[in-house]
Amino acid sequence: MYPQVRLRRLRKNANTRALACETRLAVSDLIYPLFVVPGNKIKREISSMPGQFLYSLDQLPAFIDQIAQTGIKTLLLFGQTEVKDPRGESACADQAVVCEAVKLIKEKYPEFVLMTDVCLCSYTDHGHCGPIVEGYVDNDATLEVLAKVAVAHAQAGADFVAPSGMMDGMVAAIREALDDQGFVNVGILSYAVKYASSFYGPFRDAADSTPQEGDRKSYQMNPANSREALREAELDVLEGADLLMVKPGGPYLDIIAGLHQNFNIPVVAYQVSGEYSMIKAAGAKGWVDEQAVVLESLLALKRAGAQAIITYFALDAAKWLVI
Ligand code: PBG
Repeated sequence: MYPQVRLRRLRKNANTRALACETRLAVSDLIYPLFVVPGNKIKREISSMPGQFLYSLDQLPAFIDQIAQTGIKTLLLFGQTEVKDPRGESACADQAVVCEAVKLIKEKYPEFVLMTDVCLCSYTDHGHCGPIVEGYVDNDATLEVLAKVAVAHAQAGADFVAPSGMMDGMVAAIREALDDQGFVNVGILSYAVKYASSFYGPFRDAADSTPQEGDRKSYQMNPANSREALREAELDVLEGADLLMVKPGGPYLDIIAGLHQNFNIPVVAYQVSGEYSMIKAAGAKGWVDEQAVVLESLLALKRAGAQAIITYFALDAAKWLVI
């Protein structure tokens, strides 16, 4: 007790603080989300996410070189389509733009770890994450399409597929389809605990995936629940997930900590579009110090128990971390 115990001794100067530091961020913790779109000569800034762009394939190589220079090695790819239908079938095509992007990146940077988002919301004409039967997103019909999408991504060369639709049994269905086709070494990053969050707004502008009607509350989780998150995680582990994701990140640090404490499997946090845009906007106004707030927000995710972090700030953070 005070006065014998003085915690400030460990904070005396920078070197002492470094000695007592419990959590460190590294460039290898960071995963960068990248949006690819059909077409040519497209490098379009996402208006609600300043500094983030949609790329057509021809614009990709130059940007990938830039990414490589930062030391970032892991990407999460999102695709789009020109042809939407009620089932989102164009997501399965092996010429889908995300498959083409995987091939292109792997050719130049075979050591990159490529993860692909496996969801149908950018491919269905109604914007929901699976086919709708009698007004309800049909779980088992969705699984059939998701399994095909995962196999198409694996065929293109993806290292991990990342199902994000919050369908029951999605990890098992995808694991079985991958194994059937011989892709035993392709891993699954499960969006195990994905909340029906308002923080996805800017992403939906970017991914052209806003539901035409209704919301995603019949499949994504209620932000009020944490015990249910443990059930979601447990099932995904049993179904064969290699990595578990919690999404959004910052507002759900308790969930990240809960998964980290309860499961011996790496937890990945997704700092989503709304988290990015809020920091960006406040930084642009001069209300907060952007660099400091970004690094603190990422450190907080890691301290809570995230092994890796998906963030739109990955490239900036990588530069700041090595300075
Ligand atoms: C697709 C998907 C979404 C995000 C990632 N994958 C949007 C959604 O569920 O509506 C959000 C990512 C972000 O906000 O950065 N299902």
